[in-house]
Amino acid sequence: MNRAMSTKDQLLIGLKRRKGAWISGEALAQEMAISRSAVWKHICALKDEGYVVESSRKKGYLLRELSSLLLPNEIQEGLNTNVFGKRKIAYFTQTDSTNLRAKDLAHEGAPEGTVVVAEKQIQGRGRRGRSWFSPLGEGIYASIIMRPLISPNEAPGLTLMASVAVAEAIQTLTSLNVHIKWPNDIMIYGRKVAGILTEISTEMDRVDYVIVGLGMNVNISHENFPPDLRDKATSILMETGKTFPRVTLLRAYLEEHEKYYELFTLNGFGPVLNRWKQLADIIGRRITVDLMEHRYTGEVLDIDREGFLILRDHEGRMQRIISGDVTLLND
Ligand code: BTN
Repeated sequence: MNRAMSTKDQLLIGLKRRKGAWISGEALAQEMAISRSAVWKHICALKDEGYVVESSRKKGYLLRELSSLLLPNEIQEGLNTNVFGKRKIAYFTQTDSTNLRAKDLAHEGAPEGTVVVAEKQIQGRGRRGRSWFSPLGEGIYASIIMRPLISPNEAPGLTLMASVAVAEAIQTLTSLNVHIKWPNDIMIYGRKVAGILTEISTEMDRVDYVIVGLGMNVNISHENFPPDLRDKATSILMETGKTFPRVTLLRAYLEEHEKYYELFTLNGFGPVLNRWKQLADIIGRRITVDLMEHRYTGEVLDIDREGFLILRDHEGRMQRIISGDVTLLND
């Protein structure tokens, strides 16, 4: 962790150590070498951040529940990475789009591993000019800054890599059967649970930075989705019947992201692509791909080393497609 620990953070650690048990204000004050009224002030601040702290004049304080917010200190606690999430985590209760915030930070020189998270986005953006439904406190909206030493044509591989990381994180934590729909939609039983929006800034023939923005539907109930999404979207809550701590999912994603990024950096796209292919199960399938102005139908021959989909149409022509909306055909 890079930032110095504040008194409030230290107090939180003291409370967490005795989670579920009472501790007197006097004992906390002594432990922290601050006054009892300063303890009270910091307890109020923790309550404002969503921690459930009970207070009693006789018994002192008791931490009943952790905050359900995606607070940077909670994300970083026990986070098993070296870089991703270990730099600054910029936190917003509400913002336009975490990708836009991350771009600003990247322009200001923010290092690789910087993360932006928000509880709510008012201009959440999806692929192909769509919007991303981003209700308060029910999803993960997170953007990661990367500065890979690669050429721009290798960058699409990072999007596929991120989708593998998301799928692995969900699958490991929930045991749900997760699929990837090319290029990077994360699906559970045919419905989309998460998506990735990658934005790249290049300089001459090298990548300056890559922003990978993850949107995941975590605790959104069926009726809380807008009607036009209800048939297409799902959430972890809908699939498991339980609310899931978003912070646990985000931590797992950051860890998987770093693991696959190291693999990508050391061994190239090959091993990541192999895992992507296992999770996507698309090779040999007949599909249509809708692009803005064109629709292709055919058999998927492969995903190539730059992340392009190789499709053979009914006349035997090969198409190399970088992005589009895929529909599987049943024949
Ligand atoms: C898709 O269309 O599948 C991609 C959706 C990506 C949404 C995420 S939410 C966090 C980040 N900020 C945005 O505005 N978009 C991405």
